[in-house]
Amino acid sequence: KQPLTITKLKKMKQNGEPISMLTAYDYPAAKLAEEAEIDIILVGDSLGNVVLGYDTTIPVTLDDMVYHSRMVARGATNTFIVTDMPFMTYHLGKETTLRNAARIMQEGHAHAVKLEGGAEIAEEVAALVRAGIPVMGHIGLTPQSVHQLGGYRVQGKLEKEAQRLIDDAKALEAAGAFSIVLELVTEPLAEAITSALSIPTIGIGAGRGCDGQVLVYHDILQYASPYHEKRMVKTYADIGTTIRNAISAYVSDVKTREFPQQEHAFPMEPELLQRLYG
Ligand code: KIV
Ligand code: NA
Repeated sequence: KQPLTITKLKKMKQNGEPISMLTAYDYPAAKLAEEAEIDIILVGDSLGNVVLGYDTTIPVTLDDMVYHSRMVARGATNTFIVTDMPFMTYHLGKETTLRNAARIMQEGHAHAVKLEGGAEIAEEVAALVRAGIPVMGHIGLTPQSVHQLGGYRVQGKLEKEAQRLIDDAKALEAAGAFSIVLELVTEPLAEAITSALSIPTIGIGAGRGCDGQVLVYHDILQYASPYHEKRMVKTYADIGTTIRNAISAYVSDVKTREFPQQEHAFPMEPELLQRLYG
């Protein structure tokens, strides 16, 4: 299978071929996602919640993103990888933005970066694109701004807010973004944004009208995620229960001496055994 390019992505939109994206944060997840033929792997800063155990994505650092991105890159050597730029790594001037994105590309081995925000970050986006770094936008509910937004709620419900999101999407496209994530916006607004753009939209909690869909690995697998019961998530397996039951069976085997058995142990040559221990 040929790995995806941003040119191919645009063609998928034109041909009406849905784009599949899933997060992954380490080697095994990336390997399995690639084997399942996902179009794009997102090393999302949602790893702050589902891997690092924070309440928000705000404590996630650039080092965290680079560290996880390189594990993913080793697991999925033939898949397009997008890595999130974390909180406050693209707001301190273009030079810092470029330097930080360069680390994600050079040390994290990502093919593109994702930034949260609209028109207000268009200059950063343009600078990255000029430097040869593909940029995915992300508007609607932008978790790095949760305290500014006043919680995790559906965006674009008011007319002014909806218009601003359309303007933001257009500003990102004009700045050179190759795609935009729409998170937690109403279905009709996501449809309107999708048809206003020539670059693909990838939705999460944005309904049926987007060019692609993205979900969080731990959510779709019920892998100790606090979010798998959210309306926007569909779960495809219950890995959490499988793992918990397996661990609990192991604990019980150890306690009852059911494990290990002879077949798990290493014998000694009978002569040596006799000589040493009688
Ligand atoms: O970090 C993440 O997982 C994301 C997706 C939800 C789009 O940004
Ligand atoms: Na993110």
